[in-house]
Amino acid sequence: MTPGPVAVVGASGKTGTHVVEALASRGVPVRPLGRAELADPVAAFTGAGAAYLIAPNLHPDEPALVGGWLDALRTAGVPRLAYHSVAWPYAPAMPHHLAKAQTEDLVRRSGLAWTVLQPCAYVQNLLPGLAAESPAVRVPYAVDRPFGLVDLADVGEAAAVVLTEDGHVGATYELGGPTLVSLADVADAASTVLGEPVVAERLDPGTWAAGPGAAMDPRERDWLLAMFAFYDAYGLPTGGVPLRALLGRSPHDVATVLRREHGV
Ligand SMILES: NC(=O)c1ccc[n+]([C@@H]2O[C@H](COP(=O)([O-])OP(=O)(O)OC[C@H]3O[C@@H](n4cnc5c(N)ncnc54)[C@H](OP(=O)(O)O)[C@@H]3O)[C@@H](O)[C@H]2O)c1
Repeated sequence: MTPGPVAVVGASGKTGTHVVEALASRGVPVRPLGRAELADPVAAFTGAGAAYLIAPNLHPDEPALVGGWLDALRTAGVPRLAYHSVAWPYAPAMPHHLAKAQTEDLVRRSGLAWTVLQPCAYVQNLLPGLAAESPAVRVPYAVDRPFGLVDLADVGEAAAVVLTEDGHVGATYELGGPTLVSLADVADAASTVLGEPVVAERLDPGTWAAGPGAAMDPRERDWLLAMFAFYDAYGLPTGGVPLRALLGRSPHDVATVLRREHGV
């Protein structure tokens, strides 16, 4: 990697904090970036050796946002980047996934030295429901569909690996956990870890929209409903072999993540 810190866009977010932690634990200097710094993106990137680009969740125009960052990286002379995409980006029924497929294309044609990471949904997304007084896995889609749920700490480590080790330029890696699991499997694992019954329930999407989704921006709510309908039909099966290869060990399974997060 060219000398200079790794600029992490979205460093303060759910994903970014894990990327920063993994880089820092390897002794790599990090330049955290968010909206304030990116008001002047060329200045924000100048002097960085590489960049990890994380767009905010459900942004209305991710290709334009990330396209602007790519322009700024070129102008600032930062030669190396990795882009945080998603598993199954080309899923036209999900607008925020399709936006990532379009953004991947911009990244690959940027003229910069790129890597694309495509993580599945994070195990950590399910933690709030498991921290409730009556822990549960309640989601607005079928609880028996297959997912490659992945540990965010593993995703952060993979990001650090691709930016600090050789051989990852021009590579696209899907990042799934060690095995495919259903949400019912997650509830079973949580039940064992917590030592109490944990139910897995499909919440009607209309009930979700009128309840937790009611206060959301209508476009974001519609995009999430599209994602729930997709998950309801297909889940989001995602392979675990690339992540195993990057980490040099098996990715953490759901029970391991839950034990760590619950301190048991
Ligand atoms: N959740 C999952 O299971 C999952 C799985 C795969 C991929 N992803 C993807 O991961 C990405 C990050 O999700 P997340 O939940 O970690 O996000 P998050 O917690 O909402 O964090 C996003 C960060 O981006 C910064 N930000 C917001 N608007 C910005 C803007 N216009 N320009 C620059 N920075 C901006 C914010 O920092 P400041 O406040 O400092 O501006 C914030 O810390 C999303 O693109 C999502 O699709 C998520």
